[in-house]
Amino acid sequence: YTQPLAFGDEIQPKYTVTNSDGSPLDYYEVDIKPVQVQIYPNLGKTRLVGYNGQVPGPTFRMRQGREAVVRFVNHGDRANSVHLHGSYSRAPFDGWADDTTEPGQYKDYYYPNRQNARTLWYHDHAVDHTAENAYYGQAGFYILSDAQEDSLGLPSGNYDLPLALAAKRYNTDGSLWDPEANGETVSVFGDVIHVNGVPWPYHKVEPRKYRMRFLNTGISRSYQLYFESSDAVGKQIPFTVFASDAGLTLNPVQTNDLYISVAERWEVLFDFSAYAGKNITLRNNRKVAADDDFNSTDSVMRFMVGDTVTDTNNNLPNGLPQKLRDVPFPPAHAPIEYAFKFERSNGKWERILAKPPRGAVQKWSLANSAGGWSHPIHIHLVDLQIVSRTGGRGALMPYEKVALKDVMWLDVNEQIEVVARYAPWDGVYMFHCHNLIHEDHEMLTAFNVTALAD
Ligand code: C2O
Ligand code: CU
Repeated sequence: YTQPLAFGDEIQPKYTVTNSDGSPLDYYEVDIKPVQVQIYPNLGKTRLVGYNGQVPGPTFRMRQGREAVVRFVNHGDRANSVHLHGSYSRAPFDGWADDTTEPGQYKDYYYPNRQNARTLWYHDHAVDHTAENAYYGQAGFYILSDAQEDSLGLPSGNYDLPLALAAKRYNTDGSLWDPEANGETVSVFGDVIHVNGVPWPYHKVEPRKYRMRFLNTGISRSYQLYFESSDAVGKQIPFTVFASDAGLTLNPVQTNDLYISVAERWEVLFDFSAYAGKNITLRNNRKVAADDDFNSTDSVMRFMVGDTVTDTNNNLPNGLPQKLRDVPFPPAHAPIEYAFKFERSNGKWERILAKPPRGAVQKWSLANSAGGWSHPIHIHLVDLQIVSRTGGRGALMPYEKVALKDVMWLDVNEQIEVVARYAPWDGVYMFHCHNLIHEDHEMLTAFNVTALAD
């Protein structure tokens, strides 16, 4: 915990235009380009490729109802495709893996920003190279706010911390250990844990409440996070989960630990008020899923709690209300339309594996095998409700029960059922494992939301 936590710059629009209906549309530009970063003070610089040359990329702060166009210009050395994860983007702007932008080209992506407040992220999705591109830094926050969320008075400004986790491996000269060059086809669990690009950082906080937006950018490691105080090692401090991939949960849920697999977002409220002058460490349990552990993969970052609160606004003196919002859970649905088994070499890019009619509510079952790896499964376009989990952990986590999700963690030997309304658009969308090495090795397929009868 020797280096300070950093944050992506907040990107501003280049200009704003007015649509024919009078509504504003903000235009942004992002350059995908290589950058040399001093990650280890005593080693050589690390070559990364980031959005605007930053790792993680700049943070978008967007408002529900304001459309945006983002031009991604590829100044890198390989093809890119950008996916805004958590957005119901129209298919041509969803980062389809084969819709690549070659070096020297650009693509303009249109984002409707009409969904409820949520923490999204944008990342590379290029066919066969998503893992490599995300690992080298193509990932950033895209935060959407709305009036309902505002009404809760959540901690904001310096008290709202986007925290992107990433686990990587380095060579002794400070360069990244390269998954493709080393022929890795399964997983890169990584022995160095980064938060916002900094290995095991520290962050100075005030003794009050904070909002933390956890995002796991991977590329393979899953975590079971917990907080402990330097004077009570081994004792987990309770905190509150209040939002998921799809924004506010139905209710706040108190917990001692939090599972987060690749691409999931969970937001928590943590109260440092009882810990003035102390250190609170964010830890990771060992033996999560089938991931490999190394010396320090049980540590994530440290919060150094000061003595004074400089701003008492949005400190939620009465806590959160028992009901956070009307979550649009899909109606109960008994039949299972599709059943998928996630095993290596089961996914096949070339096929459309599901064809939900637009607007239909469907239940899909997703099953993992008994041996092997855990799989964070991402279904594009929709927000899903996990209605059951059997095998493995045997039940939904309490915070999963009140949440809508777009990534569902399928641990070893687990089966889950997920229900969603396949809307609002027609189109062919991706469906894949978000362990990005698995994704690049065929655990990626497509579904077709269609208004047409077969
Ligand atoms: Cu986060 Cu298909 O992606
Ligand atoms: Cu997988």
